[in-house]
Formats: sequence, structure tokens, C-alpha cells
Amino acid sequence: MAADSTLTAATRAVQWRGELFRLPPGGHAWTAQNVIHLVRNIRDNGLREMVRSGLAETFPELEIDLHTSGRAALAWSFRALADRSGRSEIVIPAYTCYSVPAAAVSAGLRIRLVDVDLRGQIDINDLKKLPLERAAAIVVTNLLGIPESVDSLKTIVSEAGCALIDDAAQCFGASDSGGRAGARGEVGILSFGRGKPLSALGGGAAVYRAAAVAGCERPRDAGPGPASVFRAIADAMLYDIALRPSVFRMLCRVPSLGVGETRFDPDFERGGMAGRNQALLSCGLDNAEEHARGRRRVAESMAKEIQSVSLFEPMVADGAVVAVYPRLGVVAPSADARNQALIALTAAGAGATAFYPESLDCLEALKPHLVEERPCSGAHELAGRLLTLPTHGGLRGRRLREVLAIFQKIGYRAGS
Ligand SMILES: Cc1ncc(COP(=O)(O)O)c(C=O)c1O
Repeated sequence: MAADSTLTAATRAVQWRGELFRLPPGGHAWTAQNVIHLVRNIRDNGLREMVRSGLAETFPELEIDLHTSGRAALAWSFRALADRSGRSEIVIPAYTCYSVPAAAVSAGLRIRLVDVDLRGQIDINDLKKLPLERAAAIVVTNLLGIPESVDSLKTIVSEAGCALIDDAAQCFGASDSGGRAGARGEVGILSFGRGKPLSALGGGAAVYRAAAVAGCERPRDAGPGPASVFRAIADAMLYDIALRPSVFRMLCRVPSLGVGETRFDPDFERGGMAGRNQALLSCGLDNAEEHARGRRRVAESMAKEIQSVSLFEPMVADGAVVAVYPRLGVVAPSADARNQALIALTAAGAGATAFYPESLDCLEALKPHLVEERPCSGAHELAGRLLTLPTHGGLRGRRLREVLAIFQKIGYRAGS
């Protein structure tokens, strides 16, 4: 797995092009039809109704509240479930988006970490070891658009008398035999942030059975008025420009923009979803299915190619599971191989990332909020070996061949 001279030469050869060109790791451009749709609806307040009915079609029989972000929806749900149960802990997988523990802290609750396997899914044996008497909820986070199986979790959750939160921030549109991601627990969470499977450049939602959070004050949101629709159009146009590889490369160099940074920050805004995000969500709902189909095609085909030439293991869904792949996760044969691959892929401008920099058991800022400090070796291993590739379709042709050559050089599969 050590870097060889051919690889170093290959890296140097692509470096100059990577400096001019950098694919964004996720996200999709808005279309001309989206902008026309917004312009047509600039005056009336029909966009709010479109959003409500679009989400209600996906989550029939569930209550839907729109929040300012996915983490705000999580914090609201955590607080509601803690008040209902009189409990003060939330169980969170030790490798996930830092916004999940940040939401628990924002809700004034303590965190108990559970270890994960190399797909980022909750390690059931580790969960069985945890005392759950004070747990108000266990969160599944359905990493990288692959719905996590919740069958065995449901049994543990009901025996422990706590709630299951099906966090589908990365997984809108995915499903398995247990149902739609987001609808398989007492509460489901959606995020409409940048790069999510259903994007509105911001915003989030909680979807739930009414009894789960009875009596809680719900966030209020005003529908999108003309000013917020104008703002939505401007945001969509700027975002499309930012996604261009030559522009994206420059934005990555502006430290104050923090592009691609993952920060633990429990001090975030809470409340109802902004009108401009609701306006964009009405377009996102139109795009979601087609984008998901495209990403699925790209992810499955890249996964096959990577597997055929190297020992890198792409994260793809099994059998009847329908995944949505906001990005394709790839687990390297070792942490060293991951780091070498990331250097070479970054030099090639391939839009590769390391995803979350650390597992949550290693995150210093989180330690004061943990019920107990316990090492989570699976999460730690995953944080060291995971990288992601874009699935928006920009990684193709010669650049894709370069990427495959990098995987082959670093994680050579005998016989390939
Ligand atoms: C699993 C998960 N939950 C919650 C969130 C929070 O969503 P938002 O960024 O809209 O606050 C994210 C964000 O990436 C996430 O990945």
C-alpha cells in the first residue's frame, strides 16, 4: 500500500489540472424550468401549498413541520421526546454528521454514543450493552443515502421504552422492506441543505405520528412572499455558478467560506423554515426523483468499476433496498490507503472528500456532553478509512478513468 513512484508521477501529472478544476463533492444545478416555475409563482402563495402536498404525498398520514434546518428539526424532536418520557439522554451513532449531537446539546440533553460497523450502521451488539433507562430516543442516521435496517433496532427500542428517530437527512427518497426512510420510526427528520438528496439550499422538517410529540409547540413558518421568491431565484442562480468546477475551486480557497468544513456548533438558529427555502423546496420536490435515479445509476456503475480493479469497498445497498447516494462512500483497505487516495484524488480535482473528520468519541468539544466516554473502535476505523466520491455525474470520461487508475494503484486487486 505504500506510495510508489508511478503513482507519484501520475499525481503530479494530474495536479496542474486539479488546480484549475475541482468538482464539487455533491449537489445539483437548478434548471431553467425551476426558475420559470418560481417566476410564474412569484405573486400567489401557492408554493407553500405545493410544498405541503408534495411532502404529504411522500409521508401520508404523518404530521409535517417545516423547520429552519434539519438540526433545528432534530433539536425540537429531541426536546419533545425527552419531555414526553421524562428522560434526558439521546443515543447517537458514533460516526455521523456533527449536527446530530449538536442538536441534542441545543435541546439540553446528554449524549450516549453507540458504535457503528464499517457501513456506518449501528452495531446492534454494542447497543445491547448500553443502559437505556434514561434514553428518550435512539437515532439512525442512514449515512450516504443507504437506509439502515431498523427491524432489530425496533425491538430494542420498544423494550427500552424509548423512541426511534429515523433521520433521513441524507436519505430522502430511499426505502427498504421497513418502508420509506424517514417514516420508519416515531419521528423522521429531513434536511433540505446543500448537497442533500432533496435540496432547497436550507431548511428541514420533522415528520411524525401526532401521538409521538403530542402537546408540543410547533414551529411557525410564513409562506414564501414575492420578496422571498426573488431571493430564492437569486440564491439558485448563485449556487449554479458556485457549482462550476472552475468557480468551486476558487471558493474552496477562501477560508472564511469554510467550504467542506464540518464543525460542531450547538448554537444554531431554531424556528420555522424561511420562505425562500420553501420556494426552492417546491422545485426540489420536482427534481428529487429524477436526480435520485441519476445518482443511483452513477453510484452503482462507479461502485462496480472500483470493486473490479481494487480492494477499495464501495458502500452500495443490498438487494431490495432502494438507496439515493448523495455521494458514493468508499471504504479503503487501510487508513494509509485512504489518505494516499485522497491526496491523489484531490490533485485530480475529482471532488473526493474524507466525509466527517473524526468519530464522535474522539471529538474533544463533545466530551463534556457525553454520559460516559467510551472508545468506539468501529466508528474510529470508519473515520480513518472512508472517502466519498461525487454522484452528480460530473465525474466521467477521462477524469473517471484517472480516478479508477488511482484506486487500482493504491488498492491493487490481484487478477485485475
Ligand atoms: C444525518 C444528518 N442529520 C441531520 C443533519 C442536519 O441537517 P441540517 O444541515 O439541515 O441542519 C445532517 C446534515 O448534514 C445530517 O447529515
